[in-house]
Amino acid sequence: MRLVLGVSGSIAAYKAVDILRRFQKDGHETTVVMTAAATRFIAPLTFATFAPGRVYSEMFAPGQDPLLHIRLAQESDLLLVAPASADMIGKMANGIADDLLSTVFCAFPRRVVVAPAMNRHMLENPAVADNLARLRGRGVEVIEADEGPLANLETGRGRLADAEAIVAHCLGAAHV
Ligand SMILES: Cc1cc2nc3c(=O)[nH]c(=O)nc-3n(C[C@H](O)[C@H](O)[C@H](O)COP(=O)(O)O)c2cc1C
Repeated sequence: MRLVLGVSGSIAAYKAVDILRRFQKDGHETTVVMTAAATRFIAPLTFATFAPGRVYSEMFAPGQDPLLHIRLAQESDLLLVAPASADMIGKMANGIADDLLSTVFCAFPRRVVVAPAMNRHMLENPAVADNLARLRGRGVEVIEADEGPLANLETGRGRLADAEAIVAHCLGAAHV
């Protein structure tokens, strides 16, 4: 399978490296698309070390295929956004395409999976909950965040689901 792993600006962004490695170990060709915020949490170099030439974080990078967003959308079987920030979920739910990842999503004709990760108050915010419900209603698969200790030492729902569970969901035959 060919997949795009979208990484957005959550403190859980480092966990996406584990997700990438798991897909690769199973032989799946994985391209990483990071938001600008994601690059503040983890360096593109970390992903590029495992996926050389397959890590992108800009829409308008000099020398880059100008139609990368369309090519990735057309060539990939699955788009997984993990972690999915509240902001990225909002963009996806509203058709906003102002960076590479949200644009790939807009152009993506096949299966899309999102794994939210955020503070529990953000997850409980009615706007975020509504955006997730709208995505679900359009066939986007949402992997529920886990409950447990959060970055600010609170406990609650908001932790990125386990890498193993996310990968198993994506590779599972039964979905939606
Ligand atoms: C230390 C820190 C941790 C953050 N963690 C999260 C998070 O886990 N989930 C989230 O939705 N936003 C989180 N944010 C806020 C996002 O990074 C911010 O909304 C950003 O604009 C998201 O951009 P993106 O969706 O383009 O990646 C965090 C911000 C900071 C400074």
